[in-house]
Amino acid sequence: MLKIRHLSKIFLRGSVNENLALRNINLTVAHADFVTIIGSNGAGKTTLLNLISGVYPPEEGRIEINGMDVTNLPEHKRANFIGRVFQSPLQGTASSLTLEENLAIAVLRGKKRGLRLAVTRKKREEFRERLRALGLGLENRLQERVGLLSGGQRQALTIFMAVFTKPELLLLDEHTASLDPKTARRIISLTKKIVAESRLATLMVTHNMEQALELGNRTIVMEEGEIIFDVSGEDKKKMTVKDLLENFSQIKKRELVEDKMLLV
Ligand SMILES: Nc1ncnc2c1ncn2[C@@H]1O[C@H](COP(=O)(O)OP(=O)(O)O)[C@@H](O)[C@H]1O
Ligand SMILES: [Mg+2]
Repeated sequence: MLKIRHLSKIFLRGSVNENLALRNINLTVAHADFVTIIGSNGAGKTTLLNLISGVYPPEEGRIEINGMDVTNLPEHKRANFIGRVFQSPLQGTASSLTLEENLAIAVLRGKKRGLRLAVTRKKREEFRERLRALGLGLENRLQERVGLLSGGQRQALTIFMAVFTKPELLLLDEHTASLDPKTARRIISLTKKIVAESRLATLMVTHNMEQALELGNRTIVMEEGEIIFDVSGEDKKKMTVKDLLENFSQIKKRELVEDKMLLV
């Protein structure tokens, strides 16, 4: 459903700080894929998700979603088929608005503007019913401001909003990184449940290798703007963190050897 070809991103082009953040990325993701993404800081993970959701255009390459070329489609037009959750619970929901107002915005996402934020009784009932299924008690807090929720509740609400309009692709960017371990575990099981129920393709960035191997059917490793490792299916199921690290250091060693050869 997602096809990325020869994608490159350069920041601050032409300046002394020019940064080739993504180098010739090729990636094909199937409808039923739940891909976890790991990689060191600055590897280009967030940049990849930003390009997929259209925050900025690439320097080179092409992005297709369901056969449609979206490379130059503006972000708000992609929002119809992409749901996104960020690391910070503050991003993705508006503190000063109530839960139901935030949900009303989620419903409007990707639709023509002409902001109709008024929450009708019918809408409220629908929100209540669907929130009840989350099992977090948020259905009783529809008229409270989102700023009053805890980080975990807010992240749960953001995931819920991200999939509310049934997108086809869900992008999660270290969405449990700023939560305490117990809340993070809860949000992870909620993520699993929601991904399984909504059957959408998912890309989840995490810095936790164990979590990356445990969740989903495929794991990719990024390093310095490239995908250096891609494992799926049975191979992924068998893989341990130790294997992953060994693989990783072998790739690094090979690169070092290649670099040295260049110097000779
Ligand atoms: N808006 C930007 N302007 C300039 N450089 C950026 C910008 N966003 C990211 N970068 C740089 O691009 C590289 C990749 O960043 P990022 O995708 O955020 O990495 P990750 O999410 O894997 O930690 C880093 O070197 C980062 O400093
Ligand atoms: Mg990042």
